[in-house]
Amino acid sequence: MKLCLNVALLTTAGIAAGLWILSAPQAAISANALVSVPGNPERGAAVFHVGGCASCHKPADYEQTDDDGIPPLGGGQRFSTDFGTFVAPNISPDTATGIGSWSDADFANALLKGISPEGEHYYPAFPYSSYSRMTLQDIADLKAFMDTLPAVNRANEPHELGFPFSVRRGLGLWKQLYLRTDPVIALDDTDTSLLRGRYLVEGPGHCGECHSPRNALGATDYSRWLGGAANPDGDGSIPNISPHASGLADWSENDIAEYLSSGFTPEYDVVGSSMAEVVENTARLSGSDRSAIAAYLKAIPAVAAKPDD
Ligand code: HEC
Ligand code: HEC
Repeated sequence: MKLCLNVALLTTAGIAAGLWILSAPQAAISANALVSVPGNPERGAAVFHVGGCASCHKPADYEQTDDDGIPPLGGGQRFSTDFGTFVAPNISPDTATGIGSWSDADFANALLKGISPEGEHYYPAFPYSSYSRMTLQDIADLKAFMDTLPAVNRANEPHELGFPFSVRRGLGLWKQLYLRTDPVIALDDTDTSLLRGRYLVEGPGHCGECHSPRNALGATDYSRWLGGAANPDGDGSIPNISPHASGLADWSENDIAEYLSSGFTPEYDVVGSSMAEVVENTARLSGSDRSAIAAYLKAIPAVAAKPDD
């Protein structure tokens, strides 16, 4: 009996130790990896827009006054989720309160691996589970562009999360299970526009973060990719954008590209809700990138908005 108890205790301790080791942040991208990839700030502007970085990292009270202006990136917007409230950090090039002292490798590890320069895990409220698919070239270009933006001196505020979500280490297990870099949709096609569309939607565009349902642990349900989801604002639902009758079956590729440019649907409704900000960003992409996104959205498997549709 006593022996059994000891064995049980040892097993529990063993599992706990195993989990602790498994949850360790994996140092990932070395400083050398980016040396051969010089960043181009002009190309980086397009990456910044498709990535929607300003949508989350602009000030809470920001109002866009000029169409081409880039908001200051001092952070401060609050995002309430089932796990607690996240406060977006300062990602401006301020050396004291922003990311001005970060190396290119620090930046790459944050976006591709969800790891901070201190070696801690980030929460997936920062959509690195999509950005993980970005190329090193895009990361280098993005960093070069963000380095040109004004520094904002604003100290970060802590997130408001209850236990156990307040323990970053636990995210290591989540990442073991859910952080992927392979494409969501296998395309046997070699059409370059389609492949470009896949990259933009699945990677920097992070469209699936809103348009795909999530499981109980907050991870994207890839089996229902872009099939629509509950709105995290608690306000209705986010539409199905797969080519299903309950999604974009009736939209042509031109309709989709037009919507991503002007915000008008084929019925001349105007884009609203959180998608309005996405369209502000996609409107700044090249026409060929918008067409590529449209081609991909028409090529993926059709999934019903609800399993019983
Ligand atoms: C959906 C909202 C959202 C979007 C879009 C977003 N972020 Fe963030 N970001 C966050 C949140 C929330 C955190 C805090 C994560 C944490 O503390 O674990 C964060 C953290 C970061 C950090 C770490 C900052 C630090 O001080 O450690 C960097 C760098 C960053 N984001 C850059 C970007 C870039 C670049 C983009 C665009 C490609 C982007 N973010 C898009 C929400 C977002
Ligand atoms: C922050 C969440 C969010 C992200 C990220 C997002 N969307 Fe949306 N999307 C929405 C919401 C909400 C709507 C509904 C808009 C409305 O009610 O007017 C929508 C609507 C749409 C529609 C119109 C669907 C219809 O039936 O009216 C298309 C097409 C679309 N999104 C494509 C995309 C693409 C492509 C991306 C990635 C580049 C993307 N979305 C990223 C939230 C998002």
